[in-house]
Amino acid sequence: MMQERRLQPDAIPRHVAIIMDGNGRWAQDRGLSRIEGHRQGLEAVRAVIRAAHELGIEFVTLYAFSLENWNRPQDEVDELMRLLEHYLESELDEVIRNGIRVRSIGRRDRLPTSVLEKLEKAEQKTRENREMHLVFALSYGGRQEIVDAVRQLLRDAENGKLDPEALDEKTFAEYLYDPEIPDPDLLIRTGGESRVSNFLLWQIAYTEIFVTDVRWPDFRKDHLVEALRDYERRERRFGRTSAQVRS
Ligand code: IPE
Ligand code: IPE
Ligand code: MG
Repeated sequence: MMQERRLQPDAIPRHVAIIMDGNGRWAQDRGLSRIEGHRQGLEAVRAVIRAAHELGIEFVTLYAFSLENWNRPQDEVDELMRLLEHYLESELDEVIRNGIRVRSIGRRDRLPTSVLEKLEKAEQKTRENREMHLVFALSYGGRQEIVDAVRQLLRDAENGKLDPEALDEKTFAEYLYDPEIPDPDLLIRTGGESRVSNFLLWQIAYTEIFVTDVRWPDFRKDHLVEALRDYERRERRFGRTSAQVRS
């Protein structure tokens, strides 16, 4: 609580994206199955959403399942899908109560029908909510998102809907999975690995990165506050000099 009071309201990032990593190692350390780690990871998801809402963060994007994660052993994939489905179903009421809008990015066509149904239901039922936006990156890959954007863009160019000469970053970004989501200000990765693992490649061009050794199942509000305090001290220069930024 002490820590939280010292956060400056105007330095709260608008969009925090999180690579929720370390579930398997958390479980392994305790002699448990990897699935148990994922199950505990859901507790962290609940805690972080609540905390983000309390702290006034507007957008939270959670990397829940990458396109590369489809290559994991089938039983782990199945269990992750079951957990996801369960989560989307059991948390919907609280999400609605808190005025949170659920969104998702990723290749939906690869998701099992039962998961897709729950996801679409959550998106549908919360579409008017404005308190906070909760984005699930599911069956998501950054490179694939760019490829999907280019594919649509080429179609539009062919149909005469897009003038190739007029293409700029702003127009390109409109072809991404959800153009209404602003770029992340802060990217948190738990589990200690300093890599982006194909997450939001276009969007993180100027995002501040915070890596913590804390494994995702152990991540709680205090850890989020620690990341925000670190973020608060950063100087985002966007290519300019420090003197320019300060004036
Ligand atoms: C992150 O934890 C969860 C997903 C990728 C779905 P991991 O399962 O990658 O855990 P580690 O990295 O093996 O510890
Ligand atoms: C990144 O974690 C994906 C998610 C957290 C969903 P991974 O565990 O899949 O990443 P790598 O394989 O260590 O890069
Ligand atoms: Mg991992």
